[in-house]
Amino acid sequence: MTKPRHYLQFKDFTRDDYRHVFDRTRWIKDKFKRYEPYHPLFDRTLVMIFEKASTRTRLSFEAGMQQLGGSAIYLNTRDSQLGRGEPVEDAAQVISRMSDVVMIRTFEQDIIERFAAHSRVPVINGLTNEYHPCQILADIYTFIEHRGSIQGKTVAWVGDSNNMCNTWLQAAELLDFNVHVSTPPGYEVEPERAGLYGTGHFEQFADPMEACKGADLVTTDVWTSMGFEAENDERMKDFADWCVDAEMMAAARADAVFMHCLPAHRGEEVTADVIDGPQSVVWDEAENRLHVQKALMEYLVLGKV
Ligand code: CP
Repeated sequence: MTKPRHYLQFKDFTRDDYRHVFDRTRWIKDKFKRYEPYHPLFDRTLVMIFEKASTRTRLSFEAGMQQLGGSAIYLNTRDSQLGRGEPVEDAAQVISRMSDVVMIRTFEQDIIERFAAHSRVPVINGLTNEYHPCQILADIYTFIEHRGSIQGKTVAWVGDSNNMCNTWLQAAELLDFNVHVSTPPGYEVEPERAGLYGTGHFEQFADPMEACKGADLVTTDVWTSMGFEAENDERMKDFADWCVDAEMMAAARADAVFMHCLPAHRGEEVTADVIDGPQSVVWDEAENRLHVQKALMEYLVLGKV
């Protein structure tokens, strides 16, 4: 059996892979906008495993696979045998004999790594506690659409050093841009958990205003990520000064864009005037999940076409 290629962390791909995927995204998106059918994955099957809730990830993968000519099957832990004691390695053997590509949203990264090690087909990370590579793929593509190449630019991350933050940091090392991170005390980046090489592409700031100074992109996420709900009240207090507002956006470059992977809580991690304002590109960002993942699935299943 030839070993399949997986997409489990942002750093699983090289710069050349990203160049290809972004080129294909542009081509596939243009075709989609012209209502021209494109079915390179005709008769192929995507299995989507969700151990956590989702709107965007499920929709974009399911719609994306259908638009590419294939079909998508949804499995969750409530009405399947997953999560009822069957070893993840056994589930991987079975599922990958009946499908062409698998997307998993689960808890620890270790679970998806173990699944991938026993899968005969490519496995895609649809979010773990540590990483969210498909979202950052869409975010960077969206940045390129609005502002051109991200190389040498500055991204300000304001809030929790969560799976999104970790993935931004991996992307910065690979694609050569800078990340200014500002988190409340006690929530700082853990470079080992982020899987960094330590190439000096990020800086931590105690003051979020300082992090936003001169940034090309300001971005944040919910204060309480899935899996950390028990800490919610404590986090609300700790993060109170880390709400992205007009003052922070004014500290960034005049042509800076604002992103949020959604769902968002207006009045918590971002004010309504910022997320609904002229610098916000959150709807393009959400839509681009569809287009980048179509290019990603095409690449993992067929290689360079
Ligand atoms: N941004 C994101 O992954 O959204 P969902 O949780 O709705 O999939």
